[in-house]
Amino acid sequence: MQTVLVTGGAGFIGANFILLARQNNWFNIINVDKLTYASNLENLAELQNDTNYHFVQGDIDNVELVSYLLDKYQPNAIINFAAETHVDRSIFSPQTFIQTNVVGTFNLLEATRFYWQKLSLQNQQQFRFLHVSTDEVYGSLSTQEPAFREDTPYAPNSPYAASKAAADHFVRAYYHTYKLPTLTTNCSNNYGMRQFPEKLIPLTILNALDGKSLPIYGDGQNIRDWLYVIDHCEAIYLVIQQGKIGETYNIGGLNEQTNLTVVKKICAILDELIPKPNFSYSSLINFVPDRPGHDRRYAIDCSKIRRDLGWQPKENFDSGLRKTVQWYLDNSAWVNQVSSGAYQNWLKQNYENRK
Ligand code: NAD
Ligand code: DAU
Repeated sequence: MQTVLVTGGAGFIGANFILLARQNNWFNIINVDKLTYASNLENLAELQNDTNYHFVQGDIDNVELVSYLLDKYQPNAIINFAAETHVDRSIFSPQTFIQTNVVGTFNLLEATRFYWQKLSLQNQQQFRFLHVSTDEVYGSLSTQEPAFREDTPYAPNSPYAASKAAADHFVRAYYHTYKLPTLTTNCSNNYGMRQFPEKLIPLTILNALDGKSLPIYGDGQNIRDWLYVIDHCEAIYLVIQQGKIGETYNIGGLNEQTNLTVVKKICAILDELIPKPNFSYSSLINFVPDRPGHDRRYAIDCSKIRRDLGWQPKENFDSGLRKTVQWYLDNSAWVNQVSSGAYQNWLKQNYENRK
C-alpha cells in the first residue's frame, strides 16, 4: 500500500479525507499539522490504534522538519490541505495567510523537490504532489456568467484568495520548471461533519441551537456552490490516482444556493428535529453589514473531472445538509471543545461591529 504525507489533516477536509482513506485502506497516512485554532485532533481519535496512521505536529513552513519526515517515511505522494482558510480572518489579519498559504506552500514545495530529486527514476515518475485549492482564486461571477472552468483567468479578491492564488502559481511553476509531478484541485464551498463553526453552515447551526441571531452578510443573495465534503474527498482520491500531472481539476457540487436559502433550509431542518412551540428558528435571521469585497457568486464547471476521471458529486443538498445538522446535534462534546474562549473572542471581533 502507498504512503501519503497529508498536511493539515487535523482540519475539516483533511480529517474527513484521512478517515475515509483509512476506512477504505487507500493509503498509509502521515499527517503533519501545526494544530492551529481550526484543527481538532478529536477528529481523528478513532485512528489512535491504527498502525498505518501517524500524526506529527509541525509546520509546512519548516523545511528541516518536512525534509526529515520525507526521508523517514518515504511517501509516494503529498496532499497539501494545510492552510489558513477563513476569508473574514484574512480581512482582519492577512499576515498569517501569506506565511502559511504562500511561504508555507513554497517551503513545502522546496522540501518536496529536494526529496523527489533523490528518488529513483521509477519512484520519481510515480510520485505525486497534490495541492488542494479553491474556486475563490477565480474571483466573482455575476448571475449570468458561466461557471468557472480550469482555464478561467485568476482574479482573487480577498487576502485569502490572493494567498491561495499565489500558492497555486508556485505549484504550477514547480511542474514547469523542475518537472515535479504536481496536481492542483480547485473546489467550491465544502460542507459536512467536523467543520469549524466560523463558517456559514456550522455557525448557523450552533447559533440557532443557542438561540443566538443568525448573521447574514449584505442582502443574503450571494451564491455559493455547496459540495459535500465526502464527495470532495473521493474526487481528491481519483485525482491522485488518475489525474494527469501538471493539470488542474475543478471540483464542484453542481449546487448553487443563495446564503439566505441555505440558512432558511437549516432553520427548517431544526424546526423539524428540535421543534419549539410557537417559534421558528428562521425568526433568528439577522441581516448585518456586508463582508468587505464580498464575492457575489461562485460556481464550478466540473465537466473536466467528470469527463476525464468519471467523478460527479453523489450527495443531494437536502440530505447532505440534514446529515450535517444531525452530526452537530449528535456531537455536543466536539462542539463544546471547539467553542472555547478563543472562539468566543473571534465571534466578538467579527460580529460586534456588525450589529
Ligand atoms: P481548516 O481551516 O478546517 O483546516 C486547516 C488545517 O491546516 C488545520 O488543521 C490547521 O491546523 C492546519 N494548518 C494551518 N496552518 C498550517 C501550517 N502552517 N502547517 C501545518 N498545518 C497547518 O481548512 P479546510 O476547510 O479543511 O480546508 C483544507 C484545504 O482546502 C485548504 O487548503 C483550503 O484552502 C481548501 N479549501 C477549503 C474549502 C472549504 O470550503 N472548506 C473549499 C475550497 C478549498
Ligand atoms: O469557495 C471555497 C471557499 O469556501 C474556501 O476556499 C474557504 O476556505 C471557505 O472558508 C469558503 O469561503 P466562504 O467565504 O465562501 O465561506 P463562509 O462559510 O465564510 O461564507 C459562506 C457565505 O456566507 C459567504 O457568502 C459569506 C456568507 N456569510 C458567512 C458568515 C460566516 C454570512 O452571510 N454570514 C456569516 O456569518
